[in-house]
Amino acid sequence: QKDGYPHYMIKEIHEQPRALADTINPRVKDLLPNFEDDNIPDSLFEGVHDITVIACGTAMYAGNVGRTLIQNKFGIPVTVAIASEFRYERPTIDENTLVIVVSQSGETIDTLEALRLAKKYTQRTLAIVNVKGSTIARESGHVLYTHAGPEIAVASTKAYSVQVAAMYLVGCKLGLVTGKASESEIREFISGLKNVPSMIEEVLKLEEKISVQANRMVNAEDAFFIGRGLDYTLSMEGALKLKEISYIHAEAYAAGELKHGTISLITEGTPVIAIATQQSVYSKVVSNIREVKARGAYVILISKDKEITDNTVCDVHVSIPEVIDELSVFESVVVLQILAYYTSVGKGNDPDQPRNLAKSVTVE
Ligand code: M6R
Repeated sequence: QKDGYPHYMIKEIHEQPRALADTINPRVKDLLPNFEDDNIPDSLFEGVHDITVIACGTAMYAGNVGRTLIQNKFGIPVTVAIASEFRYERPTIDENTLVIVVSQSGETIDTLEALRLAKKYTQRTLAIVNVKGSTIARESGHVLYTHAGPEIAVASTKAYSVQVAAMYLVGCKLGLVTGKASESEIREFISGLKNVPSMIEEVLKLEEKISVQANRMVNAEDAFFIGRGLDYTLSMEGALKLKEISYIHAEAYAAGELKHGTISLITEGTPVIAIATQQSVYSKVVSNIREVKARGAYVILISKDKEITDNTVCDVHVSIPEVIDELSVFESVVVLQILAYYTSVGKGNDPDQPRNLAKSVTVE
């Protein structure tokens, strides 16, 4: 069942090119998003003036990536809500709000109850779900299935990537239907999206190099993940992945926020995983990295630079393939997943069955 891999997690990391192709390709016709086979009509998106994404854990972090893309590229306001918080707050959504619930299992109780609450305020509900016929899929107004296939490892990897891809496709559809984007703009973006599976194949070739860095992490007590914009959203997923399977305390920070308090935690050798793939904020992130480096941090930098030799910037550089900024998340997350996996294995943990965690959280 593990196809020769020692754990499901690493098998599932390697399945991402296939999972992404299966999720993206059937929804693209003539390089435009097409949800006809999913029975999702354009009317779901017509007149939408804002979006609320509701989810938990990794699914919520995928929602965060989608939020950043949709808001920055199409100017549509997006709120991302933690399902267990949304349930007990006063909803500010109405008929013109599109509610997107994201869930791998489709059974997470907080997400399900949040969906039930949201349906009292809007009929526009769309579930991005992996497990066919699950409760959330059945109760949502519409469903866009991700085709990751069964995800066995507790730590979500391939499900995250396909959730981000689904959010991007929904964003493109919204951009078109609401007139915020032109067909040619979307076609250009989607032709890049269709290339993502082959880019990930390239990133997977870095596995050995990344696993060596994991050896450097195993004795760490704390680790920090930093970035700006899309890279910040990704930092949250990177930190969660490391925490749940390696039991190392990890925090994600918007790089510019560190100096407002957290930088005092940086001491000699503290690992900082910095992601700098967004051109518009690249130089700002690099100066934030220099700030932590000057305080002794051990910096692993993920960027699209071919090479970085300046050791005042980083100790190790992981170079990912050149791609437009919005798509680099698919590449960087694979680096973060591999790093977390090998750190867990290096500590002698079972990455597939981390302590205290269940694959599907059906308790409140
Ligand atoms: O099945 P769901 O996507 O609704 O699950 C949500 C979270 O419980 C899940 O993503 C969790 O955070 C993962 N273990 C993270 O790897």
